[in-house]
Amino acid sequence: MKILIVGSGGREHAIAWKVAQSPKAEKIYCAPGNAGIAEYAECVPIGAMEFEKLVAFAKEKEIDLTVVGMDDPLVGGIVDAFEAEGLRVFGPRKNAAILEGSKAFSKDLMKKYKIPTAAYETFTDADAALAYLEKADFPIVLKADGLALGKGVLICNTLEEAKEGVKTIMQDKKFGSAGNCMVIEEFMTGREVSVLSYVDGKTIKTMTSAQDHKRAGDGDTGLNTGGMGTFSPSPFYTPEVDAFCKKYIYQATVDAMAAEGRPFKGIIFFGLMLTEKGPRVLEYNARFGDPEAQVVLPRMKTDIVDVFEACIDGTLDQTDLQFEDNAAVCVVLASKGYPVQYDKGFVIRGLERFKDKDGYYVFHAGSKRTDEGIVTNGGRVLGVTAKGKTLKEARANAYEAVNWIDFENKYYRHDIGKAIDEA
Ligand code: AMP
Ligand code: GLY
Repeated sequence: MKILIVGSGGREHAIAWKVAQSPKAEKIYCAPGNAGIAEYAECVPIGAMEFEKLVAFAKEKEIDLTVVGMDDPLVGGIVDAFEAEGLRVFGPRKNAAILEGSKAFSKDLMKKYKIPTAAYETFTDADAALAYLEKADFPIVLKADGLALGKGVLICNTLEEAKEGVKTIMQDKKFGSAGNCMVIEEFMTGREVSVLSYVDGKTIKTMTSAQDHKRAGDGDTGLNTGGMGTFSPSPFYTPEVDAFCKKYIYQATVDAMAAEGRPFKGIIFFGLMLTEKGPRVLEYNARFGDPEAQVVLPRMKTDIVDVFEACIDGTLDQTDLQFEDNAAVCVVLASKGYPVQYDKGFVIRGLERFKDKDGYYVFHAGSKRTDEGIVTNGGRVLGVTAKGKTLKEARANAYEAVNWIDFENKYYRHDIGKAIDEA
């Protein structure tokens, strides 16, 4: 098969690596890809939002299967654009990707179908939001309705902060049109867990659990980022939690989408908080997590191309989805200053040390090939993943491998997976 992957980050590198393991994958393309993905795929300079060009490319190259890694094109309707031309594509249509694209939609869905989540109200008017906040309990959570690169969530400890937040989201429109509508939500406390799943419209098969570290600094300090590291599985995701989520959350979400006339095919990423009252949905995403994919996919045993096809064909119930009984840790190597301001263009050394090393992976997030070699080209530069028999072993292996890589302004967290010591 000829397979096209759409995206350019560490997640797409992990997808491309996993697709390349499949005996079915004869030729892989990636648009636009990056310097790491280029090892498995021919990278083509078409942006993920250039639907017409992507469709034309897929037709010209007779692509058998397109896999979309990123949220923006999914929410924008890339799957509909491919299907309209009779092309096979893995991912939710626009009317289903709204599960991630609109927080107001997902909250209303959960309320209607009694899926456990934080209490909330939706506002399209800043004055109404401010009036509501006057009587609210704090801390409270403000969420811009639309996609905001993972940054549209503000946790406000006081009324003053919340007023400032309404201004940021709804009046100053810091997150653009994502802030035309806003959700104000009850603040919850507990452990966070990410559970990714494959969905074929009716059947859902969950993957092994993972946990992300969103803050930039050690000890969960500093600004929110796209994710500074992950570990899998989460020791806090116990069989009891799994049983609760299977009963009240996973299939309920898939059935709710089908009942709304929005059958979901693709990946549903459940962002869960394990509260004292039980697991609650924090958010849905309509794609693999980044950097969750970088710890979950290396542990997946099943051929991913078979799973993608089963989701498209509605035969996921016949697929035996298997994961290895081990652990993985991913440490993100970023550029100093991320997520605010950082320099790019520094030569990356040591990448060759990962070649043919079983259980060690370096997934590129922001890199570029130049005449000088591969250089840094983003805030998050690489994700270094290592497996181990246990989480502790995986963490030790990952931090050992972090030392193999060197570039100017290399920055990373030292405590990825440290929470496992408390498990
Ligand atoms: P989201 O994009 O909805 O996942 O939110 C980003 C992060 O904000 C989450 O990973 C949580 O750490 C935090 N967050 C979101 N909603 C809540 C909530 N209701 N209570 C506490 N923290 C939250
Ligand atoms: N790592 C969180 C996300 O992909 O949204």
